[in-house]
Amino acid sequence: MIRIFSAIILGLCLVSTSASAEGDAAAGKIKAYTCKGCHGIPGYNNTYPTYKVPKLGGQNEAYLSSALNAYRSANRQHSTMRVQAQSLSDQDIADISAWMASIERVPATTPPAAPDAISAKVQVCTGCHGADGLSADPTYPVLAGQHANFISHALRTYRSGARQNAIMGGFSAGLTDDDIEGIAAWYASMSGLKDLSEE
Ligand code: HEC
Ligand code: HEC
Repeated sequence: MIRIFSAIILGLCLVSTSASAEGDAAAGKIKAYTCKGCHGIPGYNNTYPTYKVPKLGGQNEAYLSSALNAYRSANRQHSTMRVQAQSLSDQDIADISAWMASIERVPATTPPAAPDAISAKVQVCTGCHGADGLSADPTYPVLAGQHANFISHALRTYRSGARQNAIMGGFSAGLTDDDIEGIAAWYASMSGLKDLSEE
């Protein structure tokens, strides 16, 4: 009896997790229309501090969902993105993330070797983000082709604690400003992410 009962509960759990996690890319494309007002303009800047709005085309799906959840709950602080995320339901987030992740990346070429000045420091980063910047684990963001000044902004804010993340807080702590500039330029020079201007 108990065994049958737990089988039913397990069955229900499986059904409900798959239903809430399933994103519909076609629906997401329509829902993401307003996002293109910033993420679809090549080289569009955040006004203050000045850095380029991140590229989202071809970003990992699980990371996109977690970033949107973090803005919505204000765990990740950014006033514009908070407003954008606040009106999104869980289903909207799943659909938009599925669409953005489905966009084909700029095809990978042989990644450039890390310059000497950063080659020791990036060894730990490539363990998760890859030497190609494509971050095989979908919960980690793709860095290849991202705007250099967005990457450096992200690293500075992890280091200062303004952007809170247990993993990245630790790994950014030992980086100097020069390391950050070098690492950002290296990952930005790789092929990968796209803005949404052609989508
Ligand atoms: C007014 C401009 C603007 C609009 C409109 C906008 N964004 Fe953003 N978005 C930004 C900026 C600026 C950032 C970087 C914020 C930061 O530093 O955390 C950002 C960051 C993000 C990130 C995090 C990317 C990363 O690599 O960490 C995601 C995901 C995102 N936006 C999705 C969306 C979605 C989905 C929409 C539409 C519902 C949207 N944005 C609309 C300006 C905008
Ligand atoms: C153990 C795995 C791991 C290691 C090692 C690691 N990262 Fe990360 N990285 C992550 C995760 C997870 C996130 C997403 C954190 C969040 O949600 O803010 C992230 C986020 C980032 C971002 C933000 C990207 C964006 O789109 O917002 C940058 C930039 C970054 N990492 C660079 C680095 C660099 C440079 C190193 C080496 C000094 C490094 N990471 C080491 C897992 C890792």
